[in-house]
Amino acid sequence: MNAMTRPDHAAARTVIATPALAAHATPKPNLLSVEDAKALDVARMTDLFKAHLNPGQLHFMKLLGFHKVKVERAEGMYYIDQNGRKILDFFGGFGSLALGHNHPRILEARRKFQEEKRHEIAIAFMSQYAAALAHNIAACSPGDLDMVFLGSSGSEAMEAAVKVAERAAGPKRPKIVYAENSFHGKTKGVLSITDGQLYRGEFKLVGNTVRVPFGDIDAIENAFRSDPEIGTIVLETVQGGGGIIQAPAEFWQKLRKLCDQYGVLWVADEVQCGVGRTGRFYAFEHYGVVPDVTALAKSLGGGKTAMGAMIARRDVYMKAYGTPKTAMIHAAATFGGIGEACITSIEALNVLYDEGLIDNAAATGDYLLDRLNALQAKYPKIIKEVRGQGFMVGLEFQDFSQTLPMVLRPMVSLLDDKLKGSLSGFIGALLLRDYDVLVAFTEYNRNVIRLEPPLICQKEHVDRFVEALDSLLSRGITGIVKDFLKSQVG
Ligand SMILES: Cc1ncc(COP(=O)(O)O)c(C=O)c1O
Repeated sequence: MNAMTRPDHAAARTVIATPALAAHATPKPNLLSVEDAKALDVARMTDLFKAHLNPGQLHFMKLLGFHKVKVERAEGMYYIDQNGRKILDFFGGFGSLALGHNHPRILEARRKFQEEKRHEIAIAFMSQYAAALAHNIAACSPGDLDMVFLGSSGSEAMEAAVKVAERAAGPKRPKIVYAENSFHGKTKGVLSITDGQLYRGEFKLVGNTVRVPFGDIDAIENAFRSDPEIGTIVLETVQGGGGIIQAPAEFWQKLRKLCDQYGVLWVADEVQCGVGRTGRFYAFEHYGVVPDVTALAKSLGGGKTAMGAMIARRDVYMKAYGTPKTAMIHAAATFGGIGEACITSIEALNVLYDEGLIDNAAATGDYLLDRLNALQAKYPKIIKEVRGQGFMVGLEFQDFSQTLPMVLRPMVSLLDDKLKGSLSGFIGALLLRDYDVLVAFTEYNRNVIRLEPPLICQKEHVDRFVEALDSLLSRGITGIVKDFLKSQVG
């Protein structure tokens, strides 16, 4: 091992010496250039990742074989790696890639914006780009969901959503109801309504929360009735991290009624399921109801920028921040509504409708579900359930811990905790290794694979995905586990 690949801190910092261009009083540190960054090979990326980003995360990438891939380019439905291998993307950045990778209209809008030397940051002035994007988001939103706060992530949008609701509910009603297995982000505020022990760690959380089972209208009614301090309820319309879990239409319709009856504000987290993913712009539109506040992020950035938005009913927003005295309480952060990010999102929303991507998510999503249901009928001992809507699909596998041959059990028990009893890790790893297909996992249910392909996905991509999965499953549970174990030693 030479100094270039040694994994220790100091070695990683001295990977490439960039020649100084001119002598200045303040010497330039040993900085990598953009071209250096593009040229890093897998070994050097690994060193830098370990030294400066997240050594523990690398451990999981290694388990799955993802650490061998260096993505060089990405286009449409595919990543292209350092060896020219085209990887079919059914992961879709956890729902961030509605338009696919590097959509030509997004690239063109950004190129033009740059060539015209448009501004990014002009906090002192109004932004024509932020104003237009807010108009577009309001135009995509039903009812009087008209007021928009722009940020840079789903967590930031959800923080804004919880804060606007808390202020509108008033100081006597600060309590927030949230659901079991929820995921709303990892920043300190929304962590308190994200139901994962792993993410909560041992942080001191905000105390004004009430947890209910997802989709349990009686539990919600009981909570509202028994605790007059409850002013807000926050729910993902489709639980992504929970394993693609939906509640029936009647649940949402009753929820709307209960919220009106008890004066509780309903915040719908659409960060993952919004922007057309389920076959409607917002997933709650399937149920004919409108929340008081909602949030978008992920695909709102067109796959090319970081954009998050909180959208509130006008009366809710005005109650919270509607006067000159209250207007700055939660006004945009430094990067909220910056130029190129806004025009990227403006173009993304236009492309979404011009190309009929919401309708494609509905129709081709149905085709995906049909084909997966047929696969479930073929392999009932491996696939337990197929569920979801549009291009937000969960594939739950059977718990194989009792059916695995005795000889393999000790070997599996040596594996990392994350993989025990779960086929999804093995299947995800082998889909990538043997079939050039990428899928995602879920935060809380280790037996579920999450499929969130770009909304440009066509039947031919679905066919390719299903045929890969069919071929892999035809190896049987024992074959899959053996092949995975071999990949760990090989
Ligand atoms: C439903 C939901 N809400 C909020 C978030 C947080 O978004 P971000 O990771 O952009 O902060 C996520 C991210 O996965 C999410 O799925």
